[in-house]
Amino acid sequence: MITPVCYQDRQLIILDQSKLPQQIVYDRCGTAEEAAEAIRTLKVRGAPLIGIIAAYAMVLALITFKGPNEGLCRYFQEKKHLLAATRPTAVNLFWALNNMERLFMENLELPLADLIKLMEEKANEILNLDIALNRLIGENGRGLLPSGCQVLTICNAGALATGGYGTALGVIRAAHAENGLGMVWVCETRPVLQGARLTVWELTREKIPVTLITDSMAGYIMYLGKVDVVIAGADRVASNGDTANKIGTYSLAMLARCHKIPFYIAAPFSTFDLSLADGAEIPVEERDPQEIKCVNGKYITVPEVSVFNPAFDITPGELISSIITEKGVFSPPYDFSGK
Ligand code: MRU
Repeated sequence: MITPVCYQDRQLIILDQSKLPQQIVYDRCGTAEEAAEAIRTLKVRGAPLIGIIAAYAMVLALITFKGPNEGLCRYFQEKKHLLAATRPTAVNLFWALNNMERLFMENLELPLADLIKLMEEKANEILNLDIALNRLIGENGRGLLPSGCQVLTICNAGALATGGYGTALGVIRAAHAENGLGMVWVCETRPVLQGARLTVWELTREKIPVTLITDSMAGYIMYLGKVDVVIAGADRVASNGDTANKIGTYSLAMLARCHKIPFYIAAPFSTFDLSLADGAEIPVEERDPQEIKCVNGKYITVPEVSVFNPAFDITPGELISSIITEKGVFSPPYDFSGK
């Protein structure tokens, strides 16, 4: 299985997802700034992976610290803010940064070299835990995708979006290994095409049956009776189950409801934001209009047209048949208290 990130010789090695599937290029990040830029430019993306990269970025920040010790706390906060400003929706980013900050503050009295080692161990733990949780999500969800069933998904919630294995794609992987799936329909996922470029690539490499469609074909495929289950990942889940995920997810949930098709979200608890009552409080990232106006660097529209480019939408919890997590499968009315 593809590994999107590894930490080696005190550097982060990341697979540049913006070049996939045409080129498999690994980049090195030696500073927090380089890691932040990789997140901002979608070289690395997907909620859990963004969190993992941010955790390592805080380690890189400490490694490259040059100032006098008295300046360390302020320096740490500056780097944390730099990373926090990269992408607003995926809560894993803030979850990971807060975890790293807590450890940093609790061990400030240590010599810097020991503090760095401790932080490295924590970032490694965040990475390894994510892979383990993905596998649990796969186990918990695979029974929902019966033998021969046809599944529809959007964006990329696979190994590339996580430490490895994947959330929604983890469930698909586990179900295919156990039951054998009939087909995975993949929405291309305009405008950045994570479905066409990344999910199709992952599934093809593993010989899982896959068919690519444009986003606007989803309703017709359902009308034709070719979709038994819809499953997607998440960037942030609120207390009532309202879920932010890639733009287009809400439309799929509505279509699934109209066609009486179960609609599942798969996500680890690091993607839950139980401080939010509902999805209206989730900040939705708006990205560069150029993503919509251009394809492969060429305008496909009138260059000066006004554009709205939200990267995510919010699916109301009541449209989600179940949310598959490492702690089990939850169904409406959602109650995650005590989890
Ligand atoms: O803009 P992206 O590519 O970071 O968006 C990714 C998604 O929407 C994924 O579905 C989500 O982060 C879950 S990844 C396991």
